[in-house]
Amino acid sequence: MSYPTNELQHLTIDGVDAVTLAKTYGTPLYVYDVTKIRQTMRAFKTIFEKEGVPYVVSYASKAFATQAIYQVAQQEGIHADIVSGGELFTALQAGFDPKHLSFNGNNKSWDELTMAIEAGVGMIIVDNFLELQLLSEIAAKHNMTQDILLRISPGISAHTHEFISTGQQDSKFGFDLLTGQGKQAYDIAKDDQNLNLLGLHAHIGSQIFDVTGFEKNAALLADTAQSWGWQPAIINVGGGFGIRYTDEDTPLPESDYADAIIRTLKSKTAQYDWKMPEIWIEPGRSVVGPAGQTLYTVGSRKDIPDLRQYLAVDGGMGDNIRPALYQANYDAVLANQPNAPTEEVVRVAGKYCESGDVLVWQQALPRTQPGDILSVLATGAYGYAMASNYNRNPRPGVVFVENGQHQLVVARETYANLTALDKKYTLGKANVQ
Ligand code: LLP
Repeated sequence: MSYPTNELQHLTIDGVDAVTLAKTYGTPLYVYDVTKIRQTMRAFKTIFEKEGVPYVVSYASKAFATQAIYQVAQQEGIHADIVSGGELFTALQAGFDPKHLSFNGNNKSWDELTMAIEAGVGMIIVDNFLELQLLSEIAAKHNMTQDILLRISPGISAHTHEFISTGQQDSKFGFDLLTGQGKQAYDIAKDDQNLNLLGLHAHIGSQIFDVTGFEKNAALLADTAQSWGWQPAIINVGGGFGIRYTDEDTPLPESDYADAIIRTLKSKTAQYDWKMPEIWIEPGRSVVGPAGQTLYTVGSRKDIPDLRQYLAVDGGMGDNIRPALYQANYDAVLANQPNAPTEEVVRVAGKYCESGDVLVWQQALPRTQPGDILSVLATGAYGYAMASNYNRNPRPGVVFVENGQHQLVVARETYANLTALDKKYTLGKANVQ
């Protein structure tokens, strides 16, 4: 693997020196290649346009939700999916067109649904019976009719990590089909004047590498609607398209997934003599994952002869919980000399007070020195999004890079930010003395 470098032999990210970024903004630092993000967004769109089918690509913003990414999604003419009041607020602050937002989630509150309706969120993806009722009441109160999809539990098991498969029957998401809850929800929704039922949604899981699950899912949604005597205007097959973190991952090009979904729905449409439904997809990881990397400064090391070499960096599980949480694997590269020959295999650990605080389980690297810059690759999805202040470490900043230029889009947190919401405790003081 050869990495892009400049005349200093430093790693470059869309034409910008990674070491310069580390010096300018400090480390740890999330860096996104915006050119790559735009390419992926366009690749998804292109395949639908080539096939001439109606479609919506909705970026699942849970993967990385900041104002800047909503701006880019909007510029590229794609929609965004949100799952909380906080994501909605962020999208609105970014100036994102609320009509192009869809709202997923299994326990949206009255306040969140009200916020969505008042903001004019285009589509609400209803997950359960309580939500059907709340939404109907809120829409009635606002004297309007809300466009909705019904989320179905497809009962399809995608071969992925147990914690991130949301498609099996034993799932907290969506209406169950096997017990008839889906049909019951359909009957309620279609007769509700304040709800405009447009279609079905199902998401089978995440980091999926083969097309079979998506084909099955698309077919299931079509068959389900047909069995209820209904021709849906929209079929939303969720996200989950896998990406390459290390050589063990073998993703297909975006177009293969989209193609398989289109093929399936074209054939179902012909079989049932339908008008082609609008196909919605919700990619998150594949849009931002490969485009992001995290820069760290190398610090201490611990060599245990014949056992392991630990290399510690200035971040860790607070900025990337995925290795600790899912045993996820990543590749790392020495940013100040990415193409130098490797000399040793190390475990890249973080600075958090926990043994499981690992960033890369096994990484071949040249011999490093304290102060070297290490880049962990493909951290753009569910890295910053799941970051925490564990051990009271400030969250890193985020920089966007495009065509040789760079800009800070999220500032690094300060120590003062960490205590900004703390309040001094004063009760009981009299008893202490
Ligand atoms: N649509 C729905 C309804 C979802 O639940 C998800 C992800 C997506 C779309 C986007 O899936 P993607 O294209 O990003 O795979 N924190 C975990 C991933 C959790 C995914 C949850 N749902 C991780 O770091 O791997």
